[in-house]
Amino acid sequence: MPLAITTDLTIDSNQPLQVQLYQQLAQRIIDQRFQPGSQMPSSRQLAADLGISRNTVLAVYDQLKAEGFLQTQSGRGVFVHSDITSVLRSPLGSKTPRRSISALKPKINTLNIDPIRTSDLDNNLPFTPGLPDIREFPIRHWNRVIHHQENRRPLMGYDGMQGYLPLRQAIAGYLRSSRGVHCHADQVIITNGAQQALSLVADIFLQPGDSVLIENPGYRGSRYALGRYGHKLVPVPLKDQVLDVHSLPMAGQAKLLYCTPTHQYPLGGILDLSQRLTLLNWAIENNTWIIEDDYDSEFHFYNKPIAAMQGLLDNSPVLYLGSFSKTMMPSVRIGYLVVPEFLVDDFVAMKRITSGESPLFIQAALTEFIESGQFVRHLRRMRQLYREKWEYFQSLVMTSLADVLTPVAESAGMHLVLEGQFDDLALCHWLREKGFGSAPLSAHFIDGHSEGSHSPRSGLVLGFASANQTQMRNCVELIREWFDAMP
Ligand SMILES: Cc1ncc(COP(=O)(O)O)c(C=O)c1O
Repeated sequence: MPLAITTDLTIDSNQPLQVQLYQQLAQRIIDQRFQPGSQMPSSRQLAADLGISRNTVLAVYDQLKAEGFLQTQSGRGVFVHSDITSVLRSPLGSKTPRRSISALKPKINTLNIDPIRTSDLDNNLPFTPGLPDIREFPIRHWNRVIHHQENRRPLMGYDGMQGYLPLRQAIAGYLRSSRGVHCHADQVIITNGAQQALSLVADIFLQPGDSVLIENPGYRGSRYALGRYGHKLVPVPLKDQVLDVHSLPMAGQAKLLYCTPTHQYPLGGILDLSQRLTLLNWAIENNTWIIEDDYDSEFHFYNKPIAAMQGLLDNSPVLYLGSFSKTMMPSVRIGYLVVPEFLVDDFVAMKRITSGESPLFIQAALTEFIESGQFVRHLRRMRQLYREKWEYFQSLVMTSLADVLTPVAESAGMHLVLEGQFDDLALCHWLREKGFGSAPLSAHFIDGHSEGSHSPRSGLVLGFASANQTQMRNCVELIREWFDAMP
């Protein structure tokens, strides 16, 4: 006796019939509402019952037969495969209660990522470290270049893995003239933000047993990327807010050293020329590559920043990286690496494996933005704006918070560290509830927040670039309130 199956099939006239019928029949076979070996109605009958064409039913039956759900018994008709349980010998087909998929969760490397988990919404609160003043971005110029590029058919296909050549040329020119970097376009690799640049370095350089020297405190993004395969991260202390070049270990297995010499992240110190040369000589003697993260050198307010380490010596063992996240906006997701020529192929091959190309329209728009002079104009405006914000915010802090917090100040950048003795994680949480972003200084120390360890220093990292004067005043008042309420 064939199954009477039309009663519980529902056909929605807005969806392709064949797909619906296939899905509904297959689902009933999988969950065994249609028992193995039971007879299906004839295609003619099912078509008539459902009021659809017989060809549709035939096509669905053919597909289910080809996939092993149904079988034809000659002269008798079409049946649910009698051995369907072996076809479906998987948790899906089994009648025994299914284990929850969470039982399949593999062992995952925990990286102890940010103690403050941010939702998508509050990543852009005023005072979020690293966030530029997006309201001041010249959106009309940007729209114009996007509009020019978006209809160009040559940009619709694949491009080179290394990045759009005109953009690499523009970046190389900019780095040579503004940062003293020794490079040409063939040494530039476009990445999806500085974060991908750091990950590529880890992918290419690190072998089992290698360790990585890292500023402490330092940029958490570098820790996550360089430590993700479990390589040992060896903290290098700071002295006067910069990497202490005299406390570097003499020999060892450190393959890489990560640093932010032009504006230490987060404390803001600047390595002077002799310290830079000491560091370079140490790296050469110890066969260690320096990762030079030049993330915000555009924003030095009173002096031109010291030239990049990469360009100080010929053939220096430096992997130089930068990003447009601060100079343009984080969402362009464009960063760059400058590496010696003999490493370029390895980086390009690794990028091919791990991400493929970077978005071509954005690269082309960015090129036009740079070539038209808009980029340098924008930087000049932002440098002036951030300098005013930095001065205003510092003076507010000095007037209202000097008894509890000390600014760790260097006249540069987009964030300010306010140091003091308090539970910085708790204050950051509280500020977030009130609508302000910030980061706890202690979280920038290796071991800063792991159980049983205490960071030697606590404080707030406040990204003033994204805050206006009213927000600065409100935030300072809130911090005052928090300290006044402390027992
Ligand atoms: C030290 C440092 N390096 C690099 C970056 C840029 O990272 P990305 O280009 O991945 O946005 C940041 C951003 O906050 C940073 O603080």
